[in-house]
Amino acid sequence: MNLQADAQLFAPCPRGLEDALAAELAGLGAGAVQAVAGGVAFAGNTRLIYRANLESRIATRVLLRLFSVPYRSEEDIYRAAYDFDWPQRFDVARSIRVYLTAQRCPLKSLDFLTLRIKDAVCDRFRSAVGSRPNVDTRAPDVRIHAFLDATQFTLYLDTSGEPLFKRGARAAAGAAPLKENLAAGILALTGWRPGTALLDPMCGGGTFLVEAAQIALDIAPGSARAFGFEKLKAFDAPLWSGLRAEAEARRKPLAPLPIYGSELYGDTLKLAQANLAAAGLEQAVQLKQANALEISAPAASGVLLTNPPYGERMGEQQELAEFYPKFGDVLKQKFAGWNCYILSADMNLPKLIRLQVSRRTPLFNGALECRLFEYKIVAGSMRSPKPAKA
Ligand SMILES: C[S@@+](CC[C@H](N)C(=O)[O-])C[C@H]1O[C@@H](n2cnc3c(N)ncnc32)[C@H](O)[C@@H]1O
Repeated sequence: MNLQADAQLFAPCPRGLEDALAAELAGLGAGAVQAVAGGVAFAGNTRLIYRANLESRIATRVLLRLFSVPYRSEEDIYRAAYDFDWPQRFDVARSIRVYLTAQRCPLKSLDFLTLRIKDAVCDRFRSAVGSRPNVDTRAPDVRIHAFLDATQFTLYLDTSGEPLFKRGARAAAGAAPLKENLAAGILALTGWRPGTALLDPMCGGGTFLVEAAQIALDIAPGSARAFGFEKLKAFDAPLWSGLRAEAEARRKPLAPLPIYGSELYGDTLKLAQANLAAAGLEQAVQLKQANALEISAPAASGVLLTNPPYGERMGEQQELAEFYPKFGDVLKQKFAGWNCYILSADMNLPKLIRLQVSRRTPLFNGALECRLFEYKIVAGSMRSPKPAKA
């Protein structure tokens, strides 16, 4: 995989973050950048593939497109997969796994198709080198992603390996941790910039805080992990170590930052502490145990970004119905001059919080449809009227 010319690439991401990812990849030097539902198609050489893996905060993976062909039958899929020169890409000693995603595929069993693609790769190896790679469903060396639509079969090599939201540093997850790339993408949507105060008053395991501190200190999100491309035959070790060294040289010295987190429960705050410590960032972020209804602003202006608990049970919904209006009061009384962003799957939140929403951005937290609600708080204003009592 040492590509002088540009290869066709695709980076999936959480839905709702496609434009933010397109801008990020363009900033890394990607060509032909095109945001589509669920990800970004782009073009680039080996250097760009390595950089996108090392530096993209928003992509879930970086996939290298191998081919795309029309198909009608299982046999067409087997044949196209067999015809690809797999032994040229990786050694038979590498373990593999095939992943398959289909939309409007007319063929019946996707599990069977996945097996047929795996068989085709193994058969190709057997005929070329006399043995076949092992399958490892848990930690494969090489991941192969197949996409089927109604007529077209597309195959990708995964250059990332483990998904990119696994930064390699999270020590412990809280009750409902956000994926790191979703958190980083949301930070991009808020327009927050290092130097501006950032507060998460319901910080849980501290995902927003870790991502923000890494952005502020210019720490490459992939600097503490390994990648799938290291297992491929054409791995260019000197190019890779050069890129890592360049990223390392840009890293700013550790210092206290205007990034603040608070959390109601001491045990959960310990998780945030552990996650910051695992990323070497505990000195950079200021944490404290506090009720979000009793906080005050740590600076005259800034960005408040939070992901409050989401009530699935009736009792929790009742608690939240009481919590949101009080939290709205706190924002209005204590956060004049701040831009506040609340990520929630609770579509009743805007009605209950009774502040005027200036923007609502649809996002997906996994399969859960959410909104990022934006509230620009100015002194003494913008209370939306109390809903009339039934
Ligand atoms: C959905 S979780 C946040 C997850 C976090 N974004 C992460 O990625 O780990 C919501 C958090 O709000 C905390 N919380 C609930 N009520 C609170 C309150 N009144 N004040 C402060 N924190 C509160 C919960 O303990 C929980 O950790």
